[in-house]
Amino acid sequence: MASTLIFSLVALISIITVPSSMSSPKASVKGFEVRLIHRDSPASPLYNPRATRADLIKSSGRRTIARQNYFNWLMSNKTWSRYSSSYVWAPIDQSPGDYIMRFKVGTPEVETFGVFDTGSHLTWLQCEPCERCFSQTIPIYNPASSQSYEKAMCGSVVCNTASGARCPNPNSECKYEINYMDGSFTEGDVATETVTLQDDGLSGSISLQNIIIGCGHSNVDTTAGYPAPGIVGLSRQPSSLVSQIPLHRVSYCIPSKDKGNHSSVRFGSAAVITEEETQTSLLSGQYGLYQLSLEGISIDGTLLNISRSVFDMTGDRGGVFMDSATTFTLLAFDAFIEFKLGMMNALSDFKPVTDVDGLFPLCYDYHSGFRLDITPEIVFHFTGLDFPLGDENTWIVNSEGNLCLAMSLNEGSSDYTIFGMYQQQNVNVGYDLDNNIVSLKYGDCE
Ligand SMILES: *[C@@H]1O[C@H](CO)[C@@H](O)[C@H](O)[C@H]1NC(C)=O
Ligand SMILES: *[C@@H]1O[C@H](CO)[C@@H](O)[C@H](O)[C@H]1NC(C)=O
Ligand SMILES: *[C@@H]1O[C@H](CO)[C@@H](O)[C@H](O)[C@H]1NC(C)=O
Repeated sequence: MASTLIFSLVALISIITVPSSMSSPKASVKGFEVRLIHRDSPASPLYNPRATRADLIKSSGRRTIARQNYFNWLMSNKTWSRYSSSYVWAPIDQSPGDYIMRFKVGTPEVETFGVFDTGSHLTWLQCEPCERCFSQTIPIYNPASSQSYEKAMCGSVVCNTASGARCPNPNSECKYEINYMDGSFTEGDVATETVTLQDDGLSGSISLQNIIIGCGHSNVDTTAGYPAPGIVGLSRQPSSLVSQIPLHRVSYCIPSKDKGNHSSVRFGSAAVITEEETQTSLLSGQYGLYQLSLEGISIDGTLLNISRSVFDMTGDRGGVFMDSATTFTLLAFDAFIEFKLGMMNALSDFKPVTDVDGLFPLCYDYHSGFRLDITPEIVFHFTGLDFPLGDENTWIVNSEGNLCLAMSLNEGSSDYTIFGMYQQQNVNVGYDLDNNIVSLKYGDCE
């Protein structure tokens, strides 16, 4: 029943291109490519020219911690609300996500941007009138000026589809609430609106009509400074942007900093799903996340003694999830203990040093003769795919200049693992959502 409703909703969405260079008639689109911008790069609207490299590393570490809180809320099946007594305020001064996506919203179009987030179910942005809004670098969106903005009513298909929707009574307007568990939250109206994406490949734009969004009238972000005005939700749940575009293939490729500045996300026929040898299964997890089937981890050819039950999801525990808004991979407790021990054994010629910022669990002094070419080979064994972690995806130079393992323990609720973006650098990540496949292949991301 629910899936029939969702199907007819998706079928109503029309996709048109309006190439800027010519006035061609509306054509249906099979695929397109949108640019992703690292939040700390000069092209980013969040770029801070005064931030040092050490500042940026500390920020990304804190964003990883903030992200854990959000995931814990997500995995708690939303039984926490900021109105309930179990809600904990633990301010953290960075909002999550390393990559942002520019887009236009409304009719006439207004430019905005949001965090590229495969762990969010709803695309939302701050909206006028503000009951409470945080400062942003561009004017706050005013839906009253848009001809294509339409609030959803309770009981409608849109309201029933939207993640986080709340209805005070059956005849009221449909509201939503999302908590980030660090004191940040957004609340507002569920609505449909036209979302326009700039196609980086065709240099035209793609207008997506009747896209479900959250228009946030009460928003708190505990970030100091100017966070992104909202989030682009790309999870597998029906109210995400990906699910509303009926092109069930998505890929992205993020170069490491020294390899280039051009990152993009591709949809539909433009998505790159690499060959069978690079594929593993995408599990249909109950949280609408991108869940992987990880069988084990080895260090220098020796499989670590980690029980399969740590990576498999049983009931609402365990599991391994890809996430575009987590920087450093966060391992479940049992996996982390074995992994750290395995790394220390493999590097027993060197004495670990403490990370001055307390972000990374295992660091080695650069001056002790420690070099990347003597570090052990780490392989993640996904079902049907052995995925080695390159040095660039494993180690990071911390703010003191020491080399640290760029992975950490998933603290708090520590029974699941999040596979973060640092470990996905220089990798084409392709999702084939119809066939439940994810492909991971190293290559240049141009
Ligand atoms: C990326 O951009 C920065 C700043 O514009 C530039 O200094 C750097 O060389 C670029 N990196 C690459 C690999 O092109
Ligand atoms: C692997 O771990 C299990 C549970 O912690 C333990 O019982 C077993 O002895 C370990 N096996 C090896 C070979 O260390
Ligand atoms: C989440 O909550 C819904 C409704 O309250 C319930 O049907 C579902 O089984 C829950 N899922 C998990 C993983 O606890």
